[in-house]
Amino acid sequence: MDQRPIGVFDSGLGGLTALRELRRILPGEELIYFGDTGRVPYGSRGRDTILRYARQDVAFLRSFDLKAVVIACGTVSANALAELTAENDLPIFGVVGPAAQAAVAATRNGRVGLVGTAASIRSGAYETEMAKLDGGVRIFAQACPLFVPLVENGRFRPGDVVVETVVREYLASLKEAEVDTLVLGCTHYPLLYEVIARFMGPEVTLIDTGATCAARAARALEEKGLLTDREVGGCRYFVSDSTEDFARLAGIFLGGSVAGSVERVEIERY
Ligand code: DGL
Repeated sequence: MDQRPIGVFDSGLGGLTALRELRRILPGEELIYFGDTGRVPYGSRGRDTILRYARQDVAFLRSFDLKAVVIACGTVSANALAELTAENDLPIFGVVGPAAQAAVAATRNGRVGLVGTAASIRSGAYETEMAKLDGGVRIFAQACPLFVPLVENGRFRPGDVVVETVVREYLASLKEAEVDTLVLGCTHYPLLYEVIARFMGPEVTLIDTGATCAARAARALEEKGLLTDREVGGCRYFVSDSTEDFARLAGIFLGGSVAGSVERVEIERY
């Protein structure tokens, strides 16, 4: 039994896809969320910068006495998981491994699509993980650099002509490749779930990296005896830019107001 909080971070709003699932499956846990909204996007940056930002994010979260950290960011998981794990003496969960496992289990024709930020696709991390599980799976990867800015600006609803156009442009080649499974390799992308699902069609299984990672982390914490016995937990939110903008969009996405529980952090101090 462990009553300490779990830290969760992302470059911005995307990690809320993992947080929402953690809250659903582990309602008694205290969660501390950090969204680096002042420096988003990470996915268009080089590996050194991503690693520096990720180290600061973890250092901030560790100013709380945590029992685990969930890297709710595909870009950080794909580029910095090994370093963060080696440098920290607590369990750290990334999104790549669980998503790769879910994709390999889901595909029936062995053709898996992968979308992510430029830095995630460049890293080859998802391909490496999937190859370890099944060398026969063919992966069709596509970087989608415009998705994160759209989501961060609240443009994720079906019917939004800009969003529909960008989705069509990025995903047409994957549809032509006849993938039957699509890994949403960035935690922002499940906010576009409906638009993507509608474009790809009902025969394509979408893998939500945030939710898959949350489920894996919950299982691992349970196995290690690190879950709380509280029945009702809570969540505090921290961001590195406007708390109002984050509260507005997070409230829409989480389906309930978070105003009053969002605080600002000077992340460069960490
Ligand atoms: N949610 C991050 C990811 O999963 C965001 C990417 C970004 O900041 O570009 O990759």
